[in-house]
Amino acid sequence: MSKLTWAMIGGGKGSQIGPTHRISAGLDGHFHLVASALDADPERGKAFAIDLGIAPERAYGSWQEMLEEERDRSDRPDLVTVATPNATHYEITSAFLTAGFDVLCEKPLTMTTQEAERIVAITRETGRVCAVNYGYSGYPLVRQMRAMVAAGDLGRIRLIKAEFAHGFHADAEEADNPRVRWRYDPAQAGVSAVFADAGIHAFHMACFVSGQAPREVSADFASLVGDRQLEDDAMLNIRLDGGALCRLWTSAVAIGRMHGLTLQVFGEKGGLSWQQQHPEQLLFTPLGGRTQILERGDAGLSAEAVRASRIPIGHAEGMPVAFANIYHDLADVLRAKKAGRAPDPLALHYPTAEDGLLSMRAIAAAANSAGSGGRWTDI
Ligand SMILES: NC(=O)c1ccc[n+]([C@@H]2O[C@H](COP(=O)([O-])OP(=O)(O)OC[C@H]3O[C@@H](n4cnc5c(N)ncnc54)[C@H](O)[C@@H]3O)[C@@H](O)[C@H]2O)c1
Repeated sequence: MSKLTWAMIGGGKGSQIGPTHRISAGLDGHFHLVASALDADPERGKAFAIDLGIAPERAYGSWQEMLEEERDRSDRPDLVTVATPNATHYEITSAFLTAGFDVLCEKPLTMTTQEAERIVAITRETGRVCAVNYGYSGYPLVRQMRAMVAAGDLGRIRLIKAEFAHGFHADAEEADNPRVRWRYDPAQAGVSAVFADAGIHAFHMACFVSGQAPREVSADFASLVGDRQLEDDAMLNIRLDGGALCRLWTSAVAIGRMHGLTLQVFGEKGGLSWQQQHPEQLLFTPLGGRTQILERGDAGLSAEAVRASRIPIGHAEGMPVAFANIYHDLADVLRAKKAGRAPDPLALHYPTAEDGLLSMRAIAAAANSAGSGGRWTDI
């Protein structure tokens, strides 16, 4: 099976998420990095690309130059990843989709609902693949949760408790640090800070696992450090279309919490509990029964979880491997497209532009609700 070709925009040397993408895309040997515009600084970007093994003529100084040169090549990249800062996602992703490339864009897909609607429209017009990197949904045991809910193991879902609370913006002394301050500046971050940046992963996971779409939200946003204009802590209640109620807490001031992404799902017949910092174990408690520990890598898990696991039971996989499952799904879908066959149905769990749009609608609705005393607001 020949490798697919891959290009990266952003994710330059020293970036936070770039290395994870390179590990994840390469993990199963599906993708070979052939072109890039890695950095806001053209020379730094080109030099790093060459260090990574990209041919000098395909190590571009800007995404515009890359688009111009790559669009007419017969060996144009099969997939383009966009891992630049948020405000650039719409322009870059829409330009590449329109030119006929398939794209994996970092979250958030855009800065506004209108931009996300436009991207969804482009994917429908062009038939291009546009995925959004809600990569935590790639964890095998998150897929196990989804499979168990879909199989009815929990009965009707009543309640979901989702959290993404960390403590990395809790230091008032650091509030003026430029790397922190922009996140709370509406001109650069939009209408929400910690919900849009962190809590949105918990929101996506709640919808993904329950298989239910969000209907309305009541939100309370708080700014607890200094004079921040946007929230550094938020509590949301979300009603889903299948009748479940989701209670979501997100925070950037929860000292002692590290990554802090957790999901609990409670149905009529049982409950599930999973923590991203201990991703190899899922707790399942049937109604009236004892709590069972489901281990990642156990052969008795769902087909979704088995497909998403690589390493034998008892050895930790982790976050880049979860993201690799998004790349694995995309590789299957892109190869199926090339071959004119249907993809493996299990590959269709990757987050799409529609999921990106739903997140943008949830962010806008939550900010509106918070601004009007927590009024229930349509998503
Ligand atoms: N899915 C996740 O869990 C997750 C985690 C972290 C970050 N992210 C997202 O990834 C994106 C990048 O975040 P980060 O923390 O890596 O940021 P960062 O600031 O650490 O790195 C951004 C990189 O993009 C480059 N860049 C900036 N403008 C560019 C341009 N116009 N063309 C080419 N390269 C450009 C920078 O030089 C840098 O290398 C953000 O949208 C963020 O929300 C997602």
